[in-house]
Amino acid sequence: MILGIETSCDETAAAIVVRDQSGRGMISSNVVRSQLDEHAAFGGVVPELAARAHVEWLDHIIAQAVDEAGIALEDVDAIAATAGPGLIGGVLVGLTTGKALAASLGKPLIAVNHLEGHALTARLTDGVQFPYLMLLVSGGHSQFVLVRGVGDYERWGGTIDDALGEAFDKVAKLLSLGHPGGPAVERIAVKGDPSRFKFPRPLLRERRLDFSFSGLKTAVRLQAEALAPLSEQDVADIAAGFQAAVTEIVAKRSHQALERFRAELPEAEPQLVVAGGVAANRAIATALETATREMGARLVVPPIALCTDNGAMVAWAGAERFALGATDGLAVEARPRWPLDTPGMKVDDHAA
Ligand code: KG4
Ligand code: ZN
Repeated sequence: MILGIETSCDETAAAIVVRDQSGRGMISSNVVRSQLDEHAAFGGVVPELAARAHVEWLDHIIAQAVDEAGIALEDVDAIAATAGPGLIGGVLVGLTTGKALAASLGKPLIAVNHLEGHALTARLTDGVQFPYLMLLVSGGHSQFVLVRGVGDYERWGGTIDDALGEAFDKVAKLLSLGHPGGPAVERIAVKGDPSRFKFPRPLLRERRLDFSFSGLKTAVRLQAEALAPLSEQDVADIAAGFQAAVTEIVAKRSHQALERFRAELPEAEPQLVVAGGVAANRAIATALETATREMGARLVVPPIALCTDNGAMVAWAGAERFALGATDGLAVEARPRWPLDTPGMKVDDHAA
């Protein structure tokens, strides 16, 4: 039974997750407090405000998670806390709290890589077996990762500029749709004509599994400036054109990534697992359904509350590592940057 703590961005979150002998997981509680209101006026996450809000709320969120699970804090077997990557002030709050709890309760600490939390969630929700391909598309990340095992990751592609969620947020901002932008863009895109504007699809013709969204974002901005003042229909058409472009890019890249999966792992069942807030987008989800069907692959999209940042994913990643004997000392440091394929992620290196 693991307590998980997540504070790397703008969600203060804690959860209790149980992993049984057979490797099945169960969420006993999962409490998330979003800081959207604190940051709304600034049109994006303000790191210092985020860190302060984590300090103010984390103790209460942990107490609530323990309470909702119907346990006492002493009942947990270990404490898992996000140690990076993320906004360093927030990460420090969660990791330091995790260390303090571990020390005072005399329990082991697991310093969890936030991306590993996203990567392993589908094993908690859907019992997915290794290996599989993960597409992580959130406000901070856009990447394909081959997940071979706990701690065993190969990054197949990333973004050379903006993350996909960030691109949605920036487009929303320039269309004055508010923050977070993804849901707002999707809502208005439904009323738009996706063929009125043909926006560029950067890198689409290349074989590499990388993304680039800044050229597309600029094209959207130039179009909006050319039409200003925008009517409601203009906004809807621009949003629809933008969403159509990113949907095509994500679907094509996923298709290519699955081709590579089939070529490099011919014995394995091709599986694509989606993580991150952008998984909530219906147009993108539908395109991924088509892409995986065409490739004869299995598509796994965990419930959206577990695709976005939460404590259960951290508790679960902690549980998977704990089951393999990988715990961390109290000297472990918070890291603003921590790619999944960093040497030292593997459980063997870890024990050494
Ligand atoms: O995973 P997440 O909750 O937070 C992190 O970034 O870690 O993802 C948030 C991102 C935001 O950029 C938000 O605009 C985007 O996911 N998002 C969406 C949708 N819902 C959330 N993007 C497109 N369509 C959506 N429906
Ligand atoms: Zn995340």
